[in-house]
Amino acid sequence: MQDVTCVVEKLVYGGKGLAHWNGEAVFIPFVVPGETIRARLLSKRQKIWEAECLEVLEPAADRVQAPCPYFGRCGGCQWQHLSYESQLQWKQKIVAESLMRLGKIENPKVLPTLASPKIWGWRSRILVHGDGQGLVGFYEPDSRKVVDVERCRIADDAVNAQLAGARKTLATQKADLELRSDARQGFSQVNPGQNEQLKKLLQSLAGPLAHEHVVELFCGDGNFSRLFLDRARIFVGVDSSSVAIQHAIRTLAPLHPRNLAHFFCDDAAQWWSRYQPQTPVDLLLLDPPRDGCAKMVEGVMKHRPKNILYISCNPATLARDLKFLKDFAGYSLVQTQPIDMFPHSYHIESLSWISKETA
Ligand SMILES: C[S@@+](CC[C@H](N)C(=O)[O-])C[C@H]1O[C@@H](n2cnc3c(N)ncnc32)[C@H](O)[C@@H]1O
Repeated sequence: MQDVTCVVEKLVYGGKGLAHWNGEAVFIPFVVPGETIRARLLSKRQKIWEAECLEVLEPAADRVQAPCPYFGRCGGCQWQHLSYESQLQWKQKIVAESLMRLGKIENPKVLPTLASPKIWGWRSRILVHGDGQGLVGFYEPDSRKVVDVERCRIADDAVNAQLAGARKTLATQKADLELRSDARQGFSQVNPGQNEQLKKLLQSLAGPLAHEHVVELFCGDGNFSRLFLDRARIFVGVDSSSVAIQHAIRTLAPLHPRNLAHFFCDDAAQWWSRYQPQTPVDLLLLDPPRDGCAKMVEGVMKHRPKNILYISCNPATLARDLKFLKDFAGYSLVQTQPIDMFPHSYHIESLSWISKETA
């Protein structure tokens, strides 16, 4: 182990700072670009060091005091030490860099990150862990060790109220418990205020685009589908969760004025490649899990929708998928809007508009 002095150059996806020492890259958590730090080199893999920050010798102007007493030990947040304005700017830069480096897109149009309406108390569901030895809370970074947490500052009040009860239940158990304030089952967007802003954005982006026949893959229980029911002549939503699809069939399908909203429980890629519509698909909506949409490209080549609106929670897989869509199907990125769904964490949601080059 060796202690070195270095200057942090930028933040990367995953939340760590990047510096160089002796010509080699060093990744350090909980630092801010522009800072001079003393770091301890911990391990090295393929010329890349992982390090910890021992001391900030010259702090950056956008370093702030993290308000949470668990920050740094709890794996939930990575950026509480960074001003919120700076978090938004770094999310925009990280998306742009991913699209350029991994997506091979020159000068992608990446808009400023849409701020979250709430930056504390925004989270409507959390997963807490009991270690069976009295600790109840969240995991440490990159570990299964539990940090004992009495109150989570990013969770909303209703969730924190449940946490008190969960701490008693899990005190002697090695188990996990999901706590949520939204009374739903399965997946739901974790930041309800930002979800509303995302829906407005989706609506305004989709408004001028052709939307006679809309397909939504990974539709969940229809969070976004609802926006298209009175606009699309034909709407089809697909998700692999039967609970979510049953909910959509029950609550949303009857809202379509001509009874032409259909929801299917299926694997999105398989369904999309098999789909044989009578009229062309104009608009494709995608909101996949973190591993992205690579398997949807074959279906895109078959159906050739005029426009694709892709909601992503991972800029790396987004960039990869955009490259596939560009190289194999002739689509191009019009713009990407980063959306801060997860304040104080490195996670980045975004909405991309992708169009056929010859549309
Ligand atoms: C990010 S969530 C989006 C849900 C929805 N758009 C929303 O806002 O509530 C991803 C969804 O993909 C679904 N999913 C995961 N793997 C799938 C697959 N192979 N085929 C279809 N759906 C899948 C999950 O059930 C989940 O509902």
